[in-house]
Amino acid sequence: MAKINESYKKLEAGYLFPEIGRRVRGFTEANPGADVIRLGIGDVTLPLAPAVVEALHAAVDEMATESGFHGYGPENGYGFLTDAIRQVDYKARGVDIDGEEIFVSDGSKQDSGNIQEIFGQGCSIAVTDPVYPVYVDTNVMAGRTGNADADGRYEGILYLPATEENGFTPAPPGERADIAYLCSPNNPTGAVASRENLGAWVAWARENDAVILFDAAYDAFIQDPDLPRSIYEIEGARECAIEMRSFSKRAGFTGVRCAYTVVPRELTGTTASGERVGLNELWGRRHATKFNSVPYVIQRAAAAALSDEGLAQTGEQVSYYMENARRIREGLAAAGFTVFAGEHAPYIWMRTPGGLSSWDFFDQLLDKARVVGTPGSGFGPSGEGYFRISAFNSHANVDEAIERIGKVFAG
Ligand code: MLT
Repeated sequence: MAKINESYKKLEAGYLFPEIGRRVRGFTEANPGADVIRLGIGDVTLPLAPAVVEALHAAVDEMATESGFHGYGPENGYGFLTDAIRQVDYKARGVDIDGEEIFVSDGSKQDSGNIQEIFGQGCSIAVTDPVYPVYVDTNVMAGRTGNADADGRYEGILYLPATEENGFTPAPPGERADIAYLCSPNNPTGAVASRENLGAWVAWARENDAVILFDAAYDAFIQDPDLPRSIYEIEGARECAIEMRSFSKRAGFTGVRCAYTVVPRELTGTTASGERVGLNELWGRRHATKFNSVPYVIQRAAAAALSDEGLAQTGEQVSYYMENARRIREGLAAAGFTVFAGEHAPYIWMRTPGGLSSWDFFDQLLDKARVVGTPGSGFGPSGEGYFRISAFNSHANVDEAIERIGKVFAG
């Protein structure tokens, strides 16, 4: 009989967003016609930018010709896309990344989940808490943890609480770990790491021979040009950090799927006997074995999102969502809620009112205001008592949601 991977049995609950979907479906089935406003999962709502649509059409037409047909693409991505990434995302900010260091993929969720495969089973893991659940769950699945305790903390993972006191940007720990996951702008708290904070993390990683897995899926939402968008803007990061970026939120690609991971050549890990091995080589091996490249048509669309026209159009979309973030932040604060962050991210983090648990607030919000958000505790134990509101929706729905929340919960 085929034995299962027992580590899956350690997982505390179903994945967060399907669980939210299940509860919302239950509610809408019980209340047919209820006008539910969804500010839960961070899924974009605006249609694709015209430059992206044009590139998709043109690439499909090309594929319909003998000379323009493309089969399997290069494992790491087409040069036209990796060149655009190098120029727009890195060179423009003074960072040199080689094309061979970029691995184009179909999503940062996948990359941030799969990357742990190239590390040893015994590697110790540090995460900020609350955290994007993929980082923790994939390490649990891989058997790198023990069981969860009553608060949902897995044995063997070092949790670094992101709190009001530290501005939801924890400093590196006083102890070592082999791998640390960082995300800035942060999902779920919406906080953004300063240059000093990232500098401290890079120094810590170098001192401890650790690897930082830096998730920059929301970099386009940073409004202050002085804030770092890439960890490679910090000196020394090439020797200790892998970076993941995505077209999902910046260019409306959640249903189109394109992202990339950067693994610098300098970055190494060690074998049991202490030999240094390049992580670029290992990730390249994994990518070539388990992935057959993002479709040509989609890579053309991603490159179009990085063209001048595409950047201007997707920049407007980002501004549209950031206007929502402002309305949510200010609207909830005016209604008496304690809200945090969201100045450089499409997420607003708030304290639940009246000491409600995150899930109790979720249920009440759905039941009384017909608004869906995301319970903070779904992102980790330190998220208990907090709640995330996403800015991905229309202005009209956001205004309506804030008005409803204010009416039901204020005072
Ligand atoms: C979220 O809502 O946290 C994100 O949409 C999840 C994701 O990007 O996978």
